[in-house]
Amino acid sequence: MNNSSPLTVDAIQALLQTQCLGRTIHLLEQTESTNSMAFELAASGVPDGTVIVAEAQTAGRGRRGRAWFSPPGKNLYCSVILRKPLARDRWSTWISWIPLVSALSAAEAIQQVTSLSPFLKWPNDLLLHQKKVGGILCESATHPQKGPFVVVGIGVNVNTRVEEFSQNLRGIATSLLEERSRQVDRCVLLASLLNELESRLTILLEENIGSLSQAYAQRCLTLGRQVRVTLAPGVSIEGLAHSIGSDGSLRILPAAGLFPTQAQSLVEVRAGDVVHLH
Ligand code: BTN
Repeated sequence: MNNSSPLTVDAIQALLQTQCLGRTIHLLEQTESTNSMAFELAASGVPDGTVIVAEAQTAGRGRRGRAWFSPPGKNLYCSVILRKPLARDRWSTWISWIPLVSALSAAEAIQQVTSLSPFLKWPNDLLLHQKKVGGILCESATHPQKGPFVVVGIGVNVNTRVEEFSQNLRGIATSLLEERSRQVDRCVLLASLLNELESRLTILLEENIGSLSQAYAQRCLTLGRQVRVTLAPGVSIEGLAHSIGSDGSLRILPAAGLFPTQAQSLVEVRAGDVVHLH
């Protein structure tokens, strides 16, 4: 299978409707990880909304220390640097919702470009037919002069064939090409993703959490399911995924017997690995 047409900055920027995101784009043939590169650039003071996108990653990183499959010329690997001068009390809402808002924006962009409608597994896995098609890795730090910043790393399996996945990914991962049987133009997808992300970040800055939460819940496959959430190695909780908290947490009604004293009270989980139980 041929590679998809190459990424170009001009083709991406021609489709942008943003004020900020993607106005500066660093396009690389190959890098270890666009998130690592974004961290270096953020530390050197590049502006809010700078995007790093690569044709390949040699050490792409997933959540919880996992590797992210990053072959050349097929998929989308990008990182967006966000640095907003927010008061300390607004920063925590901002930082806790960014992963969910990014996943929601990526799902909307995929739907616009392909008509496929990804579901979300809390907090930010993108699923098609129960298989993972994309994921988000958000990392943050503080610059000594310019204050805190967030790097939003987005990976989408775009034009990879299932045979190209390793054996251990084959049963659990998919791509837009596999689901749609047609190549997807990655410049169109990235521009759409940046447009969608900027409009939702504006809503988040206005603190209109209700509308974001509602849109997220509509796409979230986790809600209403029995789940097991691994909080740390050997530490997990099982129960009903009840709702999304005001800080983006997953609120779980623990299964009776696991936490007998609090069987009826909701437990709020802020980070963890979710398994949907049958
Ligand atoms: C996950 O585990 O679901 C998150 C995957 C995030 C992968 C993307 S690809 C672009 C960016 N650079 C990285 O090294 N990781 C993120």
